[in-house]
Amino acid sequence: MIVDVIAGARPNFMKVAALFEAAPAFPTLTLRLIHTGQHYDANMSDVFLQELNLPEPTHHLRVGSGDHTTQTTLIMQRYDAWIVENPPKWVLVVGDVNSTLACALVAAKRNIPVGHVEAGLRSFDRTMPEEINRIVTDSISSLLFATENSGVINLAKEGHPAERIHLVGHVMIDTLLRQYEQAKSLRYYETFGFVAHEYGFVTLHRPSNVDDHQQLRAIVEQLEWTAERLPLLFAVHPRTQQRLTAFDLLTRLEHSPRITLSAPLSYRQSLSVMANARVVITDSGGIQEETSVLGVPCLTLRDTTERPITLTEGTNTLIKNDWTLYRQRIMEVLDLKASRQSAAIPYWDGKAAQRILRILVQHTPHEA
Ligand code: UD1
Repeated sequence: MIVDVIAGARPNFMKVAALFEAAPAFPTLTLRLIHTGQHYDANMSDVFLQELNLPEPTHHLRVGSGDHTTQTTLIMQRYDAWIVENPPKWVLVVGDVNSTLACALVAAKRNIPVGHVEAGLRSFDRTMPEEINRIVTDSISSLLFATENSGVINLAKEGHPAERIHLVGHVMIDTLLRQYEQAKSLRYYETFGFVAHEYGFVTLHRPSNVDDHQQLRAIVEQLEWTAERLPLLFAVHPRTQQRLTAFDLLTRLEHSPRITLSAPLSYRQSLSVMANARVVITDSGGIQEETSVLGVPCLTLRDTTERPITLTEGTNTLIKNDWTLYRQRIMEVLDLKASRQSAAIPYWDGKAAQRILRILVQHTPHEA
């Protein structure tokens, strides 16, 4: 049985890697990797394919960047052309990026069932493009694989039938657990001259933070304040690089003596740097979860999170543009002597991909 597994943007690769890793235990399944090309720079895509042992994509849509409508429709046209000629039995989409929504829509319109991995997460903020992608993808998926219980509750409230909803854990954490030992021995922070637990790690890319001049300037000021107390490593996403340049903030950061800027890191490099950071400052979704498992304090520069378990069970704090709270948390983190506690979240045990593939097989009628 052929299953198309869709990946397009950086956060998708570590998630689909877990599915490919688990696949050999399911001999009736043939997984095909479909790369939409939403992310195309070597350090946003190729390096992940290599490090995560992913197969060469069976098909590459090469869509590249564009506004949401252009990007989404181009993926739809090109993926549709592919499945008309090469129909799979199932399509598995992960996360909440434009590639997720576009391929789910194409499959559903062609009556090919869709499984959504990371279903049910809700920030309840519809200004986020990802929130629209999540709601639409869930509404047209036949199987909904939730990472945390809040996802199950959200889906039930939206009227999704219980038999479609499965709490399976988190494929991204499957990959983290599998890669952790190798990442640990890498000590990648030493490349920048940092000592374990004596630096902070920063990633930012949300349009709400980086596309707004005033907001981005305010964040840069807070990073400068932080760097006076703790040196920072800031891995700059391409979107952020463009905006920092356009708003004349890049040179300012480059001249900040205790802030080191780097290109986006590979998966293992980033895991190594995160695991050994004193604190992580981010607006990423996945990093809130990864830091919770690693037991590293995380300050999330957003008003909401679609991953509430990271607040209740994990190490995450939402800053909500409250810079007093931000500075308080930084000071607390600097005072923290105690050893770190990694979160024990139900089903985040390295077996989510196995559960997903087993459920997929169970839900497929046997062919005569
Ligand atoms: C996308 C996802 C976001 C995810 C993020 C992770 C959507 C709506 N957004 O946001 O959910 O958290 O990926 O990175 O799907 N660019 C490059 N090289 C690349 C890719 C992008 O230079 O390989 C530049 C382009 O100028 C592009 C901009 O970055 O216009 C933004 O890329 P895009 O894929 O539109 O969105 P992200 O901000 O990366």
